[in-house]
Amino acid sequence: MQCFQVTAESGNYPVLIGHGAWRELRSLNPQGYSSVFILTEKGIWRHWGDRFLRDSALRSARVIFVPSGEKSKSLAQVERVSSVLARAGADRKSLLVLFGGGVIGDLGGLVASTYMRGIDCVQAPTTLLGQVDSSIGGKNAVNLPAGKNLVGTFYPPRMVLADPTVLSSLSPRIFRSGLYEVVKHAILAAQPLFDLLDHHLDALQPGNRKALEAILGPAVEVKIDVVNQDEREANLRQVLNLGHTFGHALEAATGYRCFLHGESVGWGLLAIAVLAEQLGYLKLPAGTTSKARDSDAERIRDLVWRVGPLPSIRDVSARKIVKLLPRDKKTVGGEIHWVIPERIGKVRIVTGIPMAAAELAWRTLQQMPQPASRI
Ligand SMILES: NC(=O)c1ccc[n+]([C@@H]2O[C@H](COP(=O)([O-])OP(=O)(O)OC[C@H]3O[C@@H](n4cnc5c(N)ncnc54)[C@H](O)[C@@H]3O)[C@@H](O)[C@H]2O)c1
Ligand SMILES: [Zn+2]
Repeated sequence: MQCFQVTAESGNYPVLIGHGAWRELRSLNPQGYSSVFILTEKGIWRHWGDRFLRDSALRSARVIFVPSGEKSKSLAQVERVSSVLARAGADRKSLLVLFGGGVIGDLGGLVASTYMRGIDCVQAPTTLLGQVDSSIGGKNAVNLPAGKNLVGTFYPPRMVLADPTVLSSLSPRIFRSGLYEVVKHAILAAQPLFDLLDHHLDALQPGNRKALEAILGPAVEVKIDVVNQDEREANLRQVLNLGHTFGHALEAATGYRCFLHGESVGWGLLAIAVLAEQLGYLKLPAGTTSKARDSDAERIRDLVWRVGPLPSIRDVSARKIVKLLPRDKKTVGGEIHWVIPERIGKVRIVTGIPMAAAELAWRTLQQMPQPASRI
């Protein structure tokens, strides 16, 4: 079992990763809680419910289901789940366990932070994206018709328990969607994660627990390091937005229907690498020939492509993308804060990049030869 510690202003909590992680719920002494509730989805529970109850010893917990999918991240579901809690007699000493992907984590985190002004919650993420990203950092949110993640809070869980065994039932596409976020962490961290991922990428399959355990720890550490220094996104935490400025614009341009979040981040990483190259970054060091080694831009592209097929962006015009770029939540006073990779392992926040440059980067990416099997 790997154990990391989040030491944030809002509270400290452990992140435990490995086979059997759910057993750690026993250490929270659920008997100390007046009641325990598990928020999940029917599909996930059918697969894993028995095992989760056995491992966690939460036999008397009550299970609350929400429909699967992004549409459950709504204020209507916050009200519905809170009402179910109230009707079932949940009080300030109740525990809410969030057993699902980023949708359950985000919705349940917001419910836990607001029900009776805050009850304890535990994150038990069941997707790769949840395990390396969304369950850590205490951020939660639901969507409004006006945009994604517009209503939310910062609220630390009591613990994060990530058992990679649960990933074995993920569809290949949903699994890959989480892998693009791992690639993002690898670009931020460089050694040893980038090389480790480069080496083990082909072995990283939903059912390969050993390979997953080798990658999860270092990938989670990247996020924890950033959160520990800047929980509330004052500055440093912005680096976690790498690939997300283009990525969010792509999701919005396609009505959140064509690309999973991680897939749009995959495209966002490719696009930002092109833009960075155009600005003069990610090149080979002076005096090195391209025969001797690949540039960092090529290494990033290679890793993203190797994750697997991405839905095409052929029909998503650069005009549309550029129009949506300023809507990103990280935009302040109309100024986009771009996270630009200078090289693998080093990014910088840049403002004032002309829209024409972003438009050119998107067009260049659309015209770039892509590995045939990947389109
Ligand atoms: N709070 C944060 O810091 C943060 C960070 C990144 C992303 N997010 C949010 O996370 C969400 C995306 O998360 P996600 O990709 O986990 O999506 P998700 O929660 O919708 O899960 C994806 C799909 O996988 C299914 N699923 C979950 N676990 C499974 C399992 N073990 N086996 C089989 N199927 C399973 C779900 O039913 C769903 O259909 C977005 O809403 C995004 O905004 C939040
Ligand atoms: Zn993301």
